[in-house]
Amino acid sequence: MRIAVAGSIATDHLMSFPGRFADQLIPDQLHTVSLSFLVDELEIRRGGVAANICFGMGLLGRRPILVGAVGDDFADYRSWLERHGVDTASVHVSDLHHTARFLCTTDQDHNQIASFYTGAMSEARQIELQPIADRVGGLDLVLIGADDPDAMIRHTEECRARGIPFAADPSQQLARMDDVRDLIDGAAYLFTNEYEKSLCEQKTGWTSEEVLSRVGVRVTTLGPKGVRIDRAGEPSLHVDAAPEVKKVEPTGVGDAFRAGFLTALSWDLSLERAAQAGNLLAAHALEVAGPQEYTLHGEHFVERFADAYGKDAAGEVAQHL
Ligand SMILES: Nc1ncnc2c1ncn2[C@@H]1O[C@H](COP(=O)(O)OP(=O)(O)OP(=O)(O)O)[C@@H](O)[C@H]1O
Ligand SMILES: [Mg+2]
Repeated sequence: MRIAVAGSIATDHLMSFPGRFADQLIPDQLHTVSLSFLVDELEIRRGGVAANICFGMGLLGRRPILVGAVGDDFADYRSWLERHGVDTASVHVSDLHHTARFLCTTDQDHNQIASFYTGAMSEARQIELQPIADRVGGLDLVLIGADDPDAMIRHTEECRARGIPFAADPSQQLARMDDVRDLIDGAAYLFTNEYEKSLCEQKTGWTSEEVLSRVGVRVTTLGPKGVRIDRAGEPSLHVDAAPEVKKVEPTGVGDAFRAGFLTALSWDLSLERAAQAGNLLAAHALEVAGPQEYTLHGEHFVERFADAYGKDAAGEVAQHL
């Protein structure tokens, strides 16, 4: 099963200011603000939803195809992803813009001043899927994640027109998009968290049942409560979260879930197994700071799978690791 993952590719630059922004802001001089904060820490984290999902799938031994737009500063990030099994040959490289970047400075009171530079991401709308399908010998599923909104619409329309099954995963972009019906109608899978599920219904004007009648499988992640899987005419399936060892930082847990879920599907396992694999990979992401900082050891993964979901279930996964 060949899976392409389309969506944002970005880096986060996180700085800590060992003081208080409020002490530097002079109320009657705000019309001429020119401030520089001497920060004592810079963390650069690889991120972007598509890159995060591909990273997790690569760790599990698949070779997912990353689809998105970057700048010519992508070389290091590309080799990192390639080293982790990701096919980056179809990533579009902009001549004009840098890779999307999130810059955030946090002060000692946890106040933040941040900017998000979309940069090359706006060129994702220029990407056509057919040449990618031709290069790899056909696509069995395309996940369409948060990205340039025009790119999301274009990829969805192309999948529909060419009959390529797609998974809708609009997440953060749901809030700002109006054509949400176009994004999810006919999706083989719809991924949301609980909040996004309500937002989906509000934005489409469809009831929960109507949404379900228009997608194959609806996957709703429930944070520490795990995940619920719904299909029209079938009882809901609930799968508990995997026990985590230590909670460090939740960025990227949703993406890790998708990576585990899609990988298990590509192994031809059941939806229940896929949900379990997703939950367990998400727990790995929760245990580190940053969306692509976790590591995976096949045997250890299988052991944890057995502890969380039983020996038989773990046995099905073990065959593929
Ligand atoms: N406290 C937790 N313990 C174990 N697993 C968790 C916990 N929180 C989240 N998870 C796992 O992560 C999955 C996704 O979490 P969640 O529903 O919070 O996604 P999300 O809101 O899309 O997250 P984000 O977008 O911030 O990555 C859950 O289905 C579950 O498997
Ligand atoms: Mg999410």
